[in-house]
Amino acid sequence: MTQTAEGTASSSGDTVGMAHMVRPGEVDISHGAILYVEGVTVSFDGFKALNKLSLAIDAGELRCIIGPNGAGKTTMMDVITGKTQPDAGTVFFGQTIDLLKMSEPEIAHAGIGRKFQKPTVFESHTVFENLELAMKMDKGVWSSLRYRISAEQRDRIAETLEHIQLESRAGIAAGLLSHGQKQWLEIGMLLMQDPKLLMLDEPVAGMTDAETERTAELFLSLAGRHSLIVVEHDMDFVSSIARKVTVLHEGRVLAEGPMDVIQNDERVIEVYLGR
Ligand SMILES: Nc1ncnc2c1ncn2[C@@H]1O[C@H](COP(=O)(O)OP(=O)(O)OP(=O)(O)O)[C@@H](O)[C@H]1O
Ligand SMILES: [Mg+2]
Repeated sequence: MTQTAEGTASSSGDTVGMAHMVRPGEVDISHGAILYVEGVTVSFDGFKALNKLSLAIDAGELRCIIGPNGAGKTTMMDVITGKTQPDAGTVFFGQTIDLLKMSEPEIAHAGIGRKFQKPTVFESHTVFENLELAMKMDKGVWSSLRYRISAEQRDRIAETLEHIQLESRAGIAAGLLSHGQKQWLEIGMLLMQDPKLLMLDEPVAGMTDAETERTAELFLSLAGRHSLIVVEHDMDFVSSIARKVTVLHEGRVLAEGPMDVIQNDERVIEVYLGR
């Protein structure tokens, strides 16, 4: 049985009416937040990679997470996506969906997409086919085999191609794309599943300056419709997209706020930016 992203009307009686009703498959964002991480601790042989980590992400927000190597950024993503089970704490998707009770595929199905650092596209398939496959995989293997795409779905692929600026590459094998283009294709593949929350770990690593700039534009265009969590060490890139920035250090939040405040925070300069 697959656990669904089914939500219920949130607490406080029914006087509020329909505004708080959440349909099956939707995430209850009636309190404004799409993700709550609270008091999360992850230990590896006694070493605390996350140490009572707490943060919340608003619906539609583009949040940048920075911090030194080993701060726990990737481990945090592992917990949210169900790859690592924490020793303590809670992680909720909206008001009602307890992510710690779900498996990795269930979490992906509920609407959390993750992009790893290394692009994993099907190299021998065309760019178009990669997007098509990403859409079909959502339907499950068995229906994929029998499944033909409709005109509407074709339009969605075209729309995504435009979004990731690969229209002119639609017919070529993905293996022939540049590193940056492969990264965009993989983001496009995630978008075909229409995730509510997208998590990207070091998305511009290895990109050219021009590719990095286009990636910034892409992320800014995705915010609002999707919520994004972006982990990056490239501070020029972070500055170009940042709204609210969270600094992790030794498994917990060291500082949080607008980029200009973070850049002038003595503690952040000492542990990270000043190096
Ligand atoms: N599976 C594991 N087993 C043991 N230790 C681990 C494991 N995964 C992560 N760690 C340790 O936990 C700490 C946090 O690692 P994590 O990868 O989350 O850091 P990060 O902030 O993503 O760093 P970077 O910026 O280098 O990617 C590190 O000290 C790392 O060595
Ligand atoms: Mg990492």
